[in-house]
Amino acid sequence: MMSAEYPSSPRRIVVVAASDDEGRSWEQSLRDAGHDTVRCAPDAPRIASAEPALVVIDGDAPRAASLVHELRGLGPGGTLLLLLGSLDGGEAMAAVDATLVRDVDGQSFVDTVSRLLGLVPSASRTRAAKATFGGLLGVSPAMQRVYRLASQVAPTRATVLVTGESGTGKGALAKAIHDESPRARGPFVSVHCAALAETLLESELFGHEKGSFTGADRRRPGRFELAHNGTLFLDEVGEIPLATQVKLLRVLQEREFERVGGNQAVSVDVRILAATNRDLAADVKAGRFREDLFYRLNVVRIEMPPLRMRQTDLMMLATHYLELFRAENGKQVNGFSDAARERILEYPWPGNVRELENAIERAVVVCEGSLIEEEHLPIEIDRTSPIARIPGSTLAEIERYAIVATLQAAGGSTAKAAEILGVSVRTVQYRVHEYGVARARRG
Ligand SMILES: Nc1ncnc2c1ncn2[C@@H]1O[C@H](COP(=O)(O)OP(=O)(O)OP(=O)(O)O)[C@@H](O)[C@H]1O
Ligand SMILES: [Mg+2]
Repeated sequence: MMSAEYPSSPRRIVVVAASDDEGRSWEQSLRDAGHDTVRCAPDAPRIASAEPALVVIDGDAPRAASLVHELRGLGPGGTLLLLLGSLDGGEAMAAVDATLVRDVDGQSFVDTVSRLLGLVPSASRTRAAKATFGGLLGVSPAMQRVYRLASQVAPTRATVLVTGESGTGKGALAKAIHDESPRARGPFVSVHCAALAETLLESELFGHEKGSFTGADRRRPGRFELAHNGTLFLDEVGEIPLATQVKLLRVLQEREFERVGGNQAVSVDVRILAATNRDLAADVKAGRFREDLFYRLNVVRIEMPPLRMRQTDLMMLATHYLELFRAENGKQVNGFSDAARERILEYPWPGNVRELENAIERAVVVCEGSLIEEEHLPIEIDRTSPIARIPGSTLAEIERYAIVATLQAAGGSTAKAAEILGVSVRTVQYRVHEYGVARARRG
C-alpha cells in the first residue's frame, strides 16, 4: 500500500526531478537541512498519497505541466507547489504557489523551500486558524486557503502577488495584508499601474527632481518614497511597460532608485504587494513581461477565488451589503424573498464580489417593501451549462457542474452520484464541501 510506504507527516517534501541524478542531489540537500524528503515519479495520485506539505517539481520533468494541474485538482488545498525553472505552459506556471529560476545555487533552493514550509500551518495551527483575515468576509474553503496563506505572509516582508478575476477582492486582500502586518501603522500606498502613461508612471513611482521636464517646477516625491516604512501596492502590475519594468526590477533588488531627472540614489524600506488579473506567466512567454521581474513578484502568490466557487459565502456577503446599503439609504428592507435568494445562489457572478455589491445596492434602492424580490435584482441567469461553453470554462467549473447535475439527478444521494460519476463517495463529499455546492436546491 502506498500509504504504508509513506506514513503521514505534516511537513513532508516530495521532489519530482527530471533525472535521477538531479533528484538524488536535491533530496540530499533537503535532507541535510533536516527536511523529511522523498523522491517520487511524476504520478499525481502517488504524490498525493505521500501527503506532502510541499511538492517541488522540475519544469523539465516529464508531464510537469499536467502534473501541476492534477495536483491542484486533487487537493487538499494545503499542499504548496514549488516549480523549478520555467515551464512550457504558462497556465501551469500560474497554478503553482512559487517559482524559482533553474540555475539557483543549492543554498537559495533550500532557503526557498524552508520559507515556503514556514507558510504551511502545522495541523494544530490549522485547527486554530482564524475564520477570516483582516476584516474580509467569507468562510468558504476557497477563502480559508487564502486566509491561511495571507496570515502566514502578513508578518514577513515577502513580496506577494495577488491574482484573480476582476472584482474578486485583490485590492481588499492587499489592504488586509498590510493591516495585519507590522507595518500597519506605516503608509499603505497604492499605484494603479494601468491608469498612467509610461513617463507619468515613472515619475509617479520614483518622483522627479525640479526641472526634470516641462512643468516639473519643484521636486516631487514618488510613491516609493511615500510608502517608506509601509507597503506599496502595485495594482494591475501586468500593465507596466517593459522600460519601466527594468527600473522596477532594480528597486526590488537594491531597494534603491533615482528620481526622474536626478542622479542621487534614494533608498527606501518598502514592502511590495502586487495584483493582476492577467496571466503573467503567459505574458512572460509572449515577451510582454520580464521573466526576472515575474520571479521577483511571484515570491508568494495568492489566488483570489471567483465568487462562483464561494457558494457558501454568497448569502453572507449579500446580507452584509443589504445592511450596509439599507443604512446608507435609510430603507426598511430586512431580507431576501426565497426566489431572490435562489436567484443569488444560482447566478454565476462573473463580476464577482463587486458585481454582487452593485446588484444589492441597486436592489435596496429600488425595493419598496420589506423584502428584496427577484425582480429587484439586476441579474440575468444564463442557464446554459458549462458543457455548452467548452472551451470557455475551467475544468473546475465543468467538474462542479457535473457534480451538481449528477447530485440533482440522484435526488441528493452522494452515494448514487458517486456511482454514476465513477468516483469515490469521499471525492463527491470533498468536492461538495470544497465548492460549497448547495445541497438542497429547489428545482
Ligand atoms: N472578502 C471580502 N469581504 C468583503 N468585501 C470584499 C471582499 N472581497 C471583495 N470585497 C469588496 O468587493 C469590491 C471589489 O473588491 P476589489 O476592488 O478588491 O477587487 P479587485 O479584485 O481588486 O478588482 P479589480 O480586478 O477590478 O481591480 C470592493 O468593494 C471590496 O471591498
Ligand atoms: Mg483592484
